[in-house]
Amino acid sequence: MLRGVGLRKVFKTGLFGGKRIVAVDGVSIEIEEGETVALVGESGSGKSTLGRILLMLIRPDEGKVFFDGIDLTKLRGKELKRVRIKMQLIPQNPEEALDPRWRIYDSIAEPLRIHKLVDKSEEEDRILELVKAVGLKEEHLTRYPWQLSGGELQRAVIARALALNPRFIVCDEPTSMLDLSTQASIVRLLMKFQKMFGISYLFITHDLELAKVVADRILIMRSGKIVARRVESPS
Ligand SMILES: Nc1ncnc2c1ncn2[C@@H]1O[C@H](COP(=O)(O)OP(=O)(O)OP(=O)(O)O)[C@@H](O)[C@H]1O
Ligand SMILES: [Mg+2]
Repeated sequence: MLRGVGLRKVFKTGLFGGKRIVAVDGVSIEIEEGETVALVGESGSGKSTLGRILLMLIRPDEGKVFFDGIDLTKLRGKELKRVRIKMQLIPQNPEEALDPRWRIYDSIAEPLRIHKLVDKSEEEDRILELVKAVGLKEEHLTRYPWQLSGGELQRAVIARALALNPRFIVCDEPTSMLDLSTQASIVRLLMKFQKMFGISYLFITHDLELAKVVADRILIMRSGKIVARRVESPS
């Protein structure tokens, strides 16, 4: 379903752009329908960069990204936007997904509004449905992000990510800032939606034990490269 081939990304930094960081260095990766692939590696190994390339939030310097056989690196503007409806990011920090100045309702509604998919009453119905599905209450919708706990925030981020019925979600350390029991409930929630809707996940984490619990397959990343691949037997 999703396939990256020969992906490479070099960031130029330093005062005069003279320093080069090879963040992703020749990575090929494949994710099937309904599958969870965990991407594990230490900080700075290129996990988030690879995840963002697969969503085409960052354009690779080299390589291709295929979604249902369509080469996304060849698409621009509206065409890319249309394919990207089906791909979502649950970012490392909830602040990246939820604008602090907006009520939770508006953050969850934003993807629906951007793509002009529903009218006002359909929007309300859809948001109530999403909020229930992720285990939040209607009263959370009128609050601002700083008025929610870490676990509630992450549920709101998940509701937003699900709004457009995605088929592929990059979960970038979705539980790294939560305590263990909240972490477990968020992971259960993600797995529930996978069963219900057949979503594919790229699950980024630095926690190998967590990866073993959630993933069908584990990829280990180091210095921009995939250095090991293993299949998890069902536990
Ligand atoms: N926009 C950018 N400009 C310059 N360098 C960047 C940029 N984004 C990432 N990098 C660099 O690329 C490398 C890989 O970063 P990346 O965020 O992908 O790592 P990561 O594996 O997600 O780390 P972490 O576990 O800490 O989130 C790092 O050296 C980082 O400093
Ligand atoms: Mg990261």
